[in-house]
Amino acid sequence: MPAAGSGARMGKEIPKPYLKIAGRPILEHTLLKFKEIDSIQELIISTSEAYIDQTRQIAKSVFGDRTVVVIEGGAERQESVAKALQFVSDGSEFIAIHDAVRPFVREDLISACINQAKVPDVDGAILAVQVKDTIKEISGKNIIQATPDREKLWQAQTPQIFKREILIRAYREAANRKLLGTDDSSLVEMIGGKISVVESTVDNFKITYPLDFQLAKLILSGK
Ligand code: C5P
Repeated sequence: MPAAGSGARMGKEIPKPYLKIAGRPILEHTLLKFKEIDSIQELIISTSEAYIDQTRQIAKSVFGDRTVVVIEGGAERQESVAKALQFVSDGSEFIAIHDAVRPFVREDLISACINQAKVPDVDGAILAVQVKDTIKEISGKNIIQATPDREKLWQAQTPQIFKREILIRAYREAANRKLLGTDDSSLVEMIGGKISVVESTVDNFKITYPLDFQLAKLILSGK
């Protein structure tokens, strides 16, 4: 679970996963969604150095006797995930990656994503929703180059769940080729991986901007 980085886009001093809603840090709300998923045997969180102790406490309080490892993340999300992958134990068959700032993921969709990732002829599965807006591809000068067919466009979310070996290989390859992807799936796609999409819901949004935070507060306070 990547939980590092600053709160820059939120305009806050405290990084997003540690902003509190209804008395708990966002990270804790997110972890609670994974608490009942028994197939998750170990949890690795990458975070900012100053938050390592607090994160360990939060994670232990939710995950009890399951293995919890908290490490320092990197400058980019991809680096934070890459560092966490070094701590995945050899016995793990699958690796699930979930943003610490998506606390509204539904448990049944996490399970659906796990089941889809287990299908023999795919390398992994991700949650995603169809885009609602028309998306424009623009050039550096803000001139529209193309309007991709909206029917084919899906917005990637997390969790993104992969067979262990291909994910590790994808991250290694990305590091060798100095490629930066905006999600984990894109790195697996780059080495030819076959990834399924499991239809999700828009409530699994990533808390990014102040508006997202306001919405998250409204949802969690039951308004
Ligand atoms: O910045 P962004 O909204 O894409 O962050 C998605 C997730 O990745 C968040 O949970 C954030 O804490 C994490 N992240 C990270 N390391 C970074 C940047 C973001 O672990 N350097």
